[in-house]
Amino acid sequence: MDKRTRIFCALDSADLDGVRGVAQSIAGAVDGLKLGLEFFTARGPDGVREIAKLGLPIFLDVKLHDIPNTVAGAIRGLAPLAPYYLTLHAGGGEEMLRAARDAARDEAARLGLTPPRLLAVTVLTSLDEGDLAGMGVASPVGEQVVRLAELARRAGIDGIVSSPREITAIRAACGEGFDIVVPGIRPGGGATQDQKRVMTPAEAVRAGASALVIGRPITGAADPAQAAAEIRRQVDAA
Ligand code: C5P
Repeated sequence: MDKRTRIFCALDSADLDGVRGVAQSIAGAVDGLKLGLEFFTARGPDGVREIAKLGLPIFLDVKLHDIPNTVAGAIRGLAPLAPYYLTLHAGGGEEMLRAARDAARDEAARLGLTPPRLLAVTVLTSLDEGDLAGMGVASPVGEQVVRLAELARRAGIDGIVSSPREITAIRAACGEGFDIVVPGIRPGGGATQDQKRVMTPAEAVRAGASALVIGRPITGAADPAQAAAEIRRQVDAA
């Protein structure tokens, strides 16, 4: 993939035929497909293989979080699927992140595959400062996000998932070459659904996002192919 901002469409459904149909219709306008826990828990690795047959890079958003040995084993288990991106929680700590990175690299080498790019999730966007305080974290959300992004960077993780609002601070702290992958994207004028802090595709590109994750503005559109093509146009023009 080149350096332009990539578009991954989030296919948040457990319906294999529905997901395949949308994916086929938008394949020419997006750079990859994100499959999350809803799809993976229902359809499993075979479902991922089915969607991967379309030929687009797969972003497997399973947000792993466990002790280092278990996360390393899970990553070895997922390695044959050869996802382009794979997510895990930065809150699992530095040792877990390093074990994940080593497992991804070693197992991909053993299988003769390209290792997945590992993305850390920092503070879930569903949590606010009050939630963090309840968990004993006294920092404001923005500070905790940057702290966990730096931890992930130190542990050799390839990038993070972040709200569009945090792109600038993370880029400043973690530098170039660290993928900042951003959901919460809404083309101007569209419904925001449950996303509270949104940016347009062009704003997120200009702020320095490496990739955009866009779900319902595409999958919920009357014509997903047309919606994806319009977003592609906005990203390429930004
Ligand atoms: O439909 P929508 O464009 O809101 O989809 C955004 C996607 O990004 C969903 O798959 C959602 O789970 C994911 N995501 C998010 N916020 C985060 C992390 C992931 O919206 N902080």
